[in-house]
Amino acid sequence: MCNIILLGPPGAGKGTLAKQLISVYNIPHISTGDMFREAIKDGTPLGRLAASYINEGHLVPDEVTISLVRERLSQKDCEHGYLLDGFPRTLPQAEALDTIGKDLKRPIRVVINITADEEELVRRISGRRVCRKCGTPYHIDTMRPKEEGVCDACGGEIYQRKDDTKESLLVRLNHYYADTKPLEDYYAKHGVLYEVDSTVGPKKSLKIAQKIIEGAKCD
Ligand code: AP5
Ligand code: MG
Repeated sequence: MCNIILLGPPGAGKGTLAKQLISVYNIPHISTGDMFREAIKDGTPLGRLAASYINEGHLVPDEVTISLVRERLSQKDCEHGYLLDGFPRTLPQAEALDTIGKDLKRPIRVVINITADEEELVRRISGRRVCRKCGTPYHIDTMRPKEEGVCDACGGEIYQRKDDTKESLLVRLNHYYADTKPLEDYYAKHGVLYEVDSTVGPKKSLKIAQKIIEGAKCD
């Protein structure tokens, strides 16, 4: 299978596409955002540190995030492919991931850059709700669960993320343009960058992503 990155601004649909892809390819979904939220819920020292950045929309420091991902990618379940969602987000993170990929012999083969215009991102984030247990995203207008407040996938409680406020989204978007968007160039130069325009909707986005993955050179 393939080692894959999902890149894109807040609300692009990284989590939504990730959930669909892992059910097709049966590889681990590694979302740094979900890992931080889990640590916050558990009240660990990492959680306390992460909360001070995430709630305001800022990025957690590179060294913290990189060591978390290095540890996760070295686990056995990543041997036959993995899907990164929300990592890397800065140039130092991308460079560190190259080193980690070489060290572990698990290099990145496909980077899917998910796009949507800013007006759509704001609409999605302001109406988003998420499962507290498994992280599946919903939307109050367009992607409602079958039963109000209950996750279709695991029965968990659906809630609104603390960083899904207008103020925090603005900060997150600024970080995206300044720190993450330059990674498009970085991966284009590596010859592994592909694009999915998510405004075609979740079902079509999945089909396009599958075509990309199946056409890529993966071991
Ligand atoms: P993270 O949890 O990764 O948040 P994000 O990047 O801001 O992205 P989102 O989860 O908000 O959006 P998404 O692209 O997953 O969209 P979704 O599928 O939910 O990170 C949170 C924070 O953690 C960061 O701000 C930072 O502080 C910290 N952090 C994480 N990683 C870090 C790192 N590497 N370095 C440093 N700090 C880090 O969809 C959104 C909505 O749209 C949903 O309502 C969904 O139903 C709907 N939707 C999705 N796809 C479609 C579609 N195709 N058509 C219509 N609607 C759709
Ligand atoms: Mg997400």
